[in-house]
Amino acid sequence: MKIYKARDYRDMSRKAANIISAQVIMKPNCVLGLATGSTPIGTYEQLVEWYRKGDLDFSEVTSVNLDEYKGLPRENDQSYYYFMNEHLFRHVNIDMNRTYLPDGMNMDSAAECARYNQIIHDVGGVDLQLLGLGHNGHIGFNEPNNAFEKETHCVDLTESTIEANKRFFASADEVPRQAYTMGIKTIMQARKILVVVSGEDKADIVRRAFFGPVTPEVPASILQMHNDVILVGDEAALSKI
Ligand code: GLP
Repeated sequence: MKIYKARDYRDMSRKAANIISAQVIMKPNCVLGLATGSTPIGTYEQLVEWYRKGDLDFSEVTSVNLDEYKGLPRENDQSYYYFMNEHLFRHVNIDMNRTYLPDGMNMDSAAECARYNQIIHDVGGVDLQLLGLGHNGHIGFNEPNNAFEKETHCVDLTESTIEANKRFFASADEVPRQAYTMGIKTIMQARKILVVVSGEDKADIVRRAFFGPVTPEVPASILQMHNDVILVGDEAALSKI
């Protein structure tokens, strides 16, 4: 694992965006695995800035997102589809026909998970997977569990995730209780993984995930077994390692 220490959130975002840009430049028709949450917002902003300057071209890029809330329509401003559009897609020249997210409005979980697995397979797998890190060690929406879930599945969100994500909703009651997420196997099959972490509140989980035992109780700990992981964090998030 490579660890890049950034001065602050802005520097973290720039370093992460540099790695994504390098991927797009080296392989213009690459498959990017994209993430939501507050941490990657600055990374997307930086990519948009470089696109506007003419330094980046997304026209051949395919993207597959990690996860989506079950039960939220695309138009809901808390859906991850909406997020991706707001923070990246509508600002760059990516072909919307090649951007994929789980369909939160498909209530048939088995069918939706099978459909999404097939998409990931058909696009040839992920070249670079961007990940944030939940306070309980979740990646995508793979919550702490007694086993690693392999492929796309429907999860019941934990109380701590609902609590953490309620800041984006009018109240905790409005946070969906379920989500579709890529599984741990899918994430681990990405050829390269980029994890972004920011803030002192992530320092404990960064230590547990990357320097503690590999256990499904801390889903991100499996990343220790991947042979090409880059962790980019600001000083606060890396302060306990
Ligand atoms: C969310 C997302 C994750 C994200 C994590 C951390 O619930 N499903 O993909 O990485 O929580 O979010 P944040 O970056 O806002 O701390």
